[in-house]
Amino acid sequence: PAPAPVIDSPASDLDTLRTRARDCRACPLWEPATQTVFGEGPRNARIALVGEQPGDEEDLSGHPFVGPAGRLLQRALDELGIARDTLYLTNAVKHFRFEQRGKHRLHKTPDPAHVRACRQWLVRELGLLKPEVIVCLGATAAGSVLGKDFRLMEMRGQWERLANGTRAFATVHPAWVLRQPPADRDNAYRGFVDDLRLLLDGH
Ligand code: URA
Repeated sequence: PAPAPVIDSPASDLDTLRTRARDCRACPLWEPATQTVFGEGPRNARIALVGEQPGDEEDLSGHPFVGPAGRLLQRALDELGIARDTLYLTNAVKHFRFEQRGKHRLHKTPDPAHVRACRQWLVRELGLLKPEVIVCLGATAAGSVLGKDFRLMEMRGQWERLANGTRAFATVHPAWVLRQPPADRDNAYRGFVDDLRLLLDGH
């Protein structure tokens, strides 16, 4: 496949980067999507959460984690006493990838090429934010941040260190929890909350 066009846009702050990302054409996902959904949260956030890609509601609203997965994340954070508005929330891929089925838009996992193209934004975004801790939600985020050899189900819930010294860990995606059969869902949710408990460690 042709390499993704390099985004040649040095930006010295997150607002500038967000504006540049609005017109990104580095992969084809921009065209059917409504808009770029860039990360959001306080500039001094100590913790950044990285998801996969915006879903249907995020695509329409322009804000990350406002749909069902975001509501489950909110519940887990509430349970741990972590205020969501202290966190920076973003995604590995910043356009919604979907398949139209009648009037529904069904989530489709992004291809490695989409993740690779969008990684240029994620790296700049996290480089400007400089969080102390990065939490990867799901395999797509973990692959983009921690490398393609990262094995989510073996390595979830344990501290890693990025080349630049930032501490990071991965857990499952809240949408994965929601997709579990009813009999398994509670366990899946407990495991998700237990992994997120690492955020309460003195790190
Ligand atoms: N799922 C994600 O990975 N990110 C969002 O923003 C919403 C749902």
